[in-house]
Amino acid sequence: MSIIFERKSVRKFKDEKVSDELITRLLKAGMQAPSSCNSQPWEFIVVSKAEDKLAISKMHQFAKPAANASHLIITVGNLNEAKVHRMIDQDLGACNENILLQATHEGLGAVWLGFHPIEDRTLKLKEYLDIPDYCIPFSVICVGWPAHDGEVKLRYDENKVHYDKY
Ligand SMILES: Cc1cc2nc3c(=O)[nH]c(=O)nc-3n(C[C@H](O)[C@H](O)[C@H](O)COP(=O)(O)O)c2cc1C
Repeated sequence: MSIIFERKSVRKFKDEKVSDELITRLLKAGMQAPSSCNSQPWEFIVVSKAEDKLAISKMHQFAKPAANASHLIITVGNLNEAKVHRMIDQDLGACNENILLQATHEGLGAVWLGFHPIEDRTLKLKEYLDIPDYCIPFSVICVGWPAHDGEVKLRYDENKVHYDKY
């Protein structure tokens, strides 16, 4: 089975920094994603200062894992770069998943924290990180060395598959 079947959300991390080289590899994986018209409308803000991670962990009730991660990768959609604005969520979704899969491949733990399109969440991120109005703060990906193994449950469900017509 491929790395897809090993990926899981990790929300607790060891107190050990992830190297810049590994973070760059995750960013390369993100930028390798497919995007509509190949517009690659993504940008990234890498956050590693403890005070910033703590502030972001308080931005919504499910954002707590941000506080103990080594790094946060904030994925941002740049509307000036997107050729088809309405596709930008899908572009960024593909980019996010690539980062999660690369993290799994590197033995890192990661979890995707949802921000866009919940406005009160995105406004907080925008303000805190000085993100301009032509950019959408899409999500926060917490990255670190996993503090637990965790278990992956396989989810294939044949009832969800339709052949020829719904
Ligand atoms: C759009 C999206 C938003 C998510 N938001 C959060 C979040 O805010 N906090 C969190 O701890 N996990 C979040 N997750 C992770 C999901 O909870 C997780 O993927 C799901 O429970 C399945 O578990 P798995 O990733 O271990 O397979 C999010 C995942 C997605 C795709």
